[in-house]
Amino acid sequence: MHLDASTPALVSGGASGLGEATVRRLRKAGCPVAILDVDMERGERVAGDCGALFIATDVTDAGSVRTAVEAARAAHGVARLAVTCAGIAPGAKTVGKGVAHDPALFAKAMAINLMGAFHVASIAAEGMVGAEPMGGGERGVLVNTASVAAYEGQVGQVAYAASKGAVAAMTLPMARDLARDGVRVMGIAPGLFLTPMLEGLPQEVQDSLGKTVPFPPRLGNPDEFAMLVQHIARNQMMNGEVVRLDGAIRMAAR
Ligand SMILES: NC(=O)c1ccc[n+]([C@@H]2O[C@H](COP(=O)([O-])OP(=O)(O)OC[C@H]3O[C@@H](n4cnc5c(N)ncnc54)[C@H](O)[C@@H]3O)[C@@H](O)[C@H]2O)c1
Repeated sequence: MHLDASTPALVSGGASGLGEATVRRLRKAGCPVAILDVDMERGERVAGDCGALFIATDVTDAGSVRTAVEAARAAHGVARLAVTCAGIAPGAKTVGKGVAHDPALFAKAMAINLMGAFHVASIAAEGMVGAEPMGGGERGVLVNTASVAAYEGQVGQVAYAASKGAVAAMTLPMARDLARDGVRVMGIAPGLFLTPMLEGLPQEVQDSLGKTVPFPPRLGNPDEFAMLVQHIARNQMMNGEVVRLDGAIRMAAR
């Protein structure tokens, strides 16, 4: 698809990090962009900065997502590109200090990372399938954010890895479900990216994490994630696959 003023997009988790970089890149390409995020302060700031529309949304709540997708549609028209970036990365072991993992924390990771992506993708897809086809019979593109933890969850990542593994596994069946409607579905599994999640770590820790990446030996720049989103949107043969974006890193156990 073309990315221009005729390509409305929405980005969950667009107030920060990988989602924010995606919002900014899509705005540069001319797309009307809606940011769906719980963080009102950051969301308003990013939206104001680059001319996006911020809609306060809790992705764990299907009703909140539906209201947001409808508000985005009223402002921009049907979103043709939906990118799910909202996520959290809680750290806790299966049994920590002799006590079983807090089930509420596990459920929270699933609610935000998995159900959140599912709500945004499925509700955005509903709008796409009801819209007129664009070039080549295409009606829209969904991009879900997984993680390399989907394949190599580390110590303390049992909940996170389970949620991201499910996001990765959803890609192919979702692409198959929507193929007749001309909606493509892709996943991105990022490695280590320099977002607020990692910016809080001391510089030496950031540097040493960066050196664990075979090449380039550094943390990823969020705009490198946004570049892949842009490429996926434009390249019609990309469908039903999760792409690792990780400088060849394979995470160790810890
Ligand atoms: N940064 C990395 O190295 C990395 C690596 C692999 C995967 N990821 C994944 O990429 C995505 C983005 O990560 P990031 O590093 O940009 O994180 P981030 O913390 O900078 O951004 C996440 C955004 O999600 C929003 N969010 C959280 N809960 C929400 C909810 N219930 N409803 C709506 N929005 C909510 C936050 O407000 C925030 O703006 C996440 O899914 C993360 O798991 C990141």
